Formats: sequence, C-alpha cells, structure tokens
Amino acid sequence: MSEYKIALIRGDGIGPEIVNEAVKVMETAGDKFGHQFSFVDVLMGGCATDAVGVSYPAGTAETCKSCDAVLLGAVGGPKWGSDKPAEQRPETALLAIRKDLGLFTNLRPAAMRKGMADASPLKKETAEQGFDIMMVRELTGGIYFGKRNRYETEDRGIEASDLMTYSELEIERIGRKAFELARLRRNKVTSVDKANVLACSRLWREVMHRLAEEYSDVEYEDMLVDNCAMQIVRNPGQFDVVVTENMFGDILSDEASQVTGSIGLLPSASLGASAPGLYEPIHGSAPDIAGQNKANPIATILSVAMMFRYSFGLSAEAQAIEDAVDKVLADGWHTADIAGSDEQLVGTDKMGELICKAI
Ligand code: IPM
Ligand code: MG
Repeated sequence: MSEYKIALIRGDGIGPEIVNEAVKVMETAGDKFGHQFSFVDVLMGGCATDAVGVSYPAGTAETCKSCDAVLLGAVGGPKWGSDKPAEQRPETALLAIRKDLGLFTNLRPAAMRKGMADASPLKKETAEQGFDIMMVRELTGGIYFGKRNRYETEDRGIEASDLMTYSELEIERIGRKAFELARLRRNKVTSVDKANVLACSRLWREVMHRLAEEYSDVEYEDMLVDNCAMQIVRNPGQFDVVVTENMFGDILSDEASQVTGSIGLLPSASLGASAPGLYEPIHGSAPDIAGQNKANPIATILSVAMMFRYSFGLSAEAQAIEDAVDKVLADGWHTADIAGSDEQLVGTDKMGELICKAI
C-alpha cells in the first residue's frame, strides 16, 4: 500500500466545497486501488487575510514542500480587492506559491468532452468536430514577476510600468516540457508569441526554433498571439500542444476553457523540476454561489486525476477518475453551470457522490 500526503488549500468562495468532493474522490480511488492519503490543511488566500492578516502566512511554502502534492480549491474575492495592500490580496499568495515552489510549467488542458458540444459557444459544426488542446503556460517569469514602477512625472501625471523579462533558461525549460508532452499526444507544438513587436518574443522564438530542430520528430509552428486568439474560436481542432509565456497563457487559457462549454470542467497542474506539484481547477472562487451547494466540483476532481498522473505516476487511477466523470456526464447528470434537463440537476455534493459511485 502506498501512502501520499496532500496539502489542501481550500481557500475562498466555493473552494472549500469543491475540495471536499475532491477529497471524497481521492479516498474512493484510494480504497479501490489500495492507496492511502493523508491531508494537511494549509491556510492561504482571503481566508488567511481574515484569520491572520496576510494572504500568504509565513511557512506556507514549507508546509507544502513537506507534502507529496498540493490541491488548491480557489482563492480570491471582491472582499480582498485591488484596493487592498498587496500582502492582503489572495493573488499575491498565488503568485508567491508558484514562485516559491518553482512551478514554472502550467498545464491547462482544454478538451471538448463527449456530450458537451451543445454547451459550447462555438458554431455547432466546429464544436461537433471536437478538440483537445494542451495549453502549456510558462508560470514563473515574464511580466508577472518583473519590476514594477509607479511615479509622478512633471507633465504627464502619474506613470506606471511593468517589466517583461525572459531568459534563455526559462524559455528552454518550458519549451522542452511542451515538446516532451507533444510526443505523448499528437506530436505537434504551436509556440505562441508576439515576435513582430516584443524583444522577449523574438528570443522566445529563437530558443523554440533550436528545440524544434532537436525534437525534429515533432511537428512545429510559430503563431502570433492575436492570430491564436482568433484560431481558438475559428478552428480549435488544429491545436495539440500550445506553449506560451505567462500573460499570453493566462488570457488564451481562459478563452480555450470557455469554448469547451464550461470552465467548471477544467483542471490544471503546475509543476516544477521537483515535487510537489500544485493542482487546481482553472475557474475562480465564484463568491456569488459560495456556500449554496451549486458549484461544479468536476474541475477539482479532474485536477486530482492530473495529480495522480503527473505527481504519482498512477495512470490507471487517473483514468478511472476521468472515466467516472465522463460516465456521470454521459448519463445526463449536471450542475447548474452545464446544460441539461431540470430532473438531472444536482448540487456539488451529489455530483461528488455520483462520481465516487462510478469509480
Ligand atoms: C490564473 C489567474 C491568476 C493569474 C490570477 C488570479 C493572479 O487568473 O491562474 O489564471 O493571472 O495567473
Ligand atoms: Mg487567469
């Protein structure tokens, strides 16, 4: 029997409810396949600000590092908005934990699941063709972590700046992840940049071209970010692995998730050079429906499947969770965010139970 220790960052809004269901699923899969899980609660986000005055309490990263993986529900909410000092804002904590755990690779799969075409905002013909994109977002560099400035000028009022920086090292290590993943999938990498304007993007492209030569068995293309944003709604089926820098990845991954039909279904994994990885749904904390048993727990449950696969190498277990989700959806069960008949509308906890039963 193998044992895994998981850090749980339940967070804000719907975070605690969806993490509960994911824990149930982990325990069910553990019983079935003979693994044991222990859990350590980690306080982070707006709830931490309320409890101890800062969103990222001292020791957060150390506790996470003592675990085999981290599962995060969601952090954030209007209560801790951009008018608050940085140390109280949940986003500060999110960026800090990414940096402190060295999670430079962010995997955001966006695939059209069976039976979801009706919920997609895409044209019917496009949606029915289906797509399966693995968005690989660089997560610890670029404009998110560059020097920021804000100062008074003599003649232009206040001025502010954010510096975008990328090194060859940062580009190469994320690029390698993308090519390695493509080899396990449909063998194609699209690298997205803005090389017609940005110096960082020109360096990005140079490094990617070197890698494309090294991984010559993988089909490779460059794409400008504006064009990519358009292609995702025009013909998402053309993409396999899409690799891009931090901010472009933030924007494109929201777009790619929405065209699948529900942002409530999409998991993500953030990985570094060594354990632990951090797994979270790609949606936010949805404060408007928090505590009402309405949230869709599937994205968090599928994040557990990613954890099993990428952190623990438990592919059969991961597959069992994914198959269970597909079965429950194919049987017509749904939470309020995805289309279906009223008779088969279920709450957060019932959705979790159905998935456990299907495992
Ligand atoms: C995400 C979020 C974060 C980001 C925010 C909350 C800081 O949008 O994970 O995509 O921009 O990375
Ligand atoms: Mg985002």
